[in-house]
Amino acid sequence: MKWIPKKPWRQKTGPVARQRAEAANVDGFDDDGIQKTLERVISKAGVGSRTQARSWIHAGQVQVNGKVVEDPDRWVTFGRDRILLDGKPLTKRRPIYILLYKPTGYITTFKDPEGRPTVYDLIKGIDQFVSPVGRLDLDTSGLLIMTNDTQFAERLTNPDHKISKTYLVKCSTLLSDDALEQLRRGVELSDGLTRPAQVRRVRDSGKYTHLEIAITEGRNRQVRRMIEAVDGKVLKLVRTHIGPVSFEDLKIGEWRDMAPAELSAVIGSPTRTRISGPAPGSRTPEKKKSRRPRAVRK
Ligand code: URA
Repeated sequence: MKWIPKKPWRQKTGPVARQRAEAANVDGFDDDGIQKTLERVISKAGVGSRTQARSWIHAGQVQVNGKVVEDPDRWVTFGRDRILLDGKPLTKRRPIYILLYKPTGYITTFKDPEGRPTVYDLIKGIDQFVSPVGRLDLDTSGLLIMTNDTQFAERLTNPDHKISKTYLVKCSTLLSDDALEQLRRGVELSDGLTRPAQVRRVRDSGKYTHLEIAITEGRNRQVRRMIEAVDGKVLKLVRTHIGPVSFEDLKIGEWRDMAPAELSAVIGSPTRTRISGPAPGSRTPEKKKSRRPRAVRK
């Protein structure tokens, strides 16, 4: 009997759904055997973005069980339904996780109607479609993780998991201790109060304050808006860490694969930041292992 989720608009990933997927004895995606929309199955296969998947489906390039399907919202089950794109079966994707040192002047979407450079211009040669984990603004540089593993991406971006993102900020004014304390406690933005943040004054130079801030949310332009809330303006913003992971071995514009130890460190890193060390109750940091130099791509 075919299993149909009770609420098909919510992907089932709990233990029961997993057992069912395993019972279906299919291989492929980590959560195959579960019904999803055709558009989602194609984008999860790592061949393109959801927008691309929709356009391929609308263009009649996709067949399900021998018939062209032009409805991107059609429910299908990878591993059970035979899905062809341009006549070729969708195959199992290889999970890819990369660290990119994003320069300013690059946007993190796949295509830009204004024709500006995108981060995809920097990661040529990857044979699977990877998506940025969270955004970095055009004017923000620093660490960007890109992956085709949607569960990993969700884990990093869902604020419930409290994985910190650390930024270096150059602020247009000198910020008082009181202003830093407000940032730590949370400031009121148009979309609500921010969560407590970890904030460290790095230095004041002339009329500027340089600070380090670690937040566990990823709202749109959050750091810039937080600084505006204490009457400053961000002049320079660099993301230096996601959890404990950084990019010190990369030059601007370069990327490399993430090491397995980095993958587990970032996943097991709630609220661990370099600003104040482990949060109470968080896991003990792993001992630093000596690492072989990793291949860097330009
Ligand atoms: N906060 C911002 O304001 N911009 C970014 O790019 C990231 C975090």
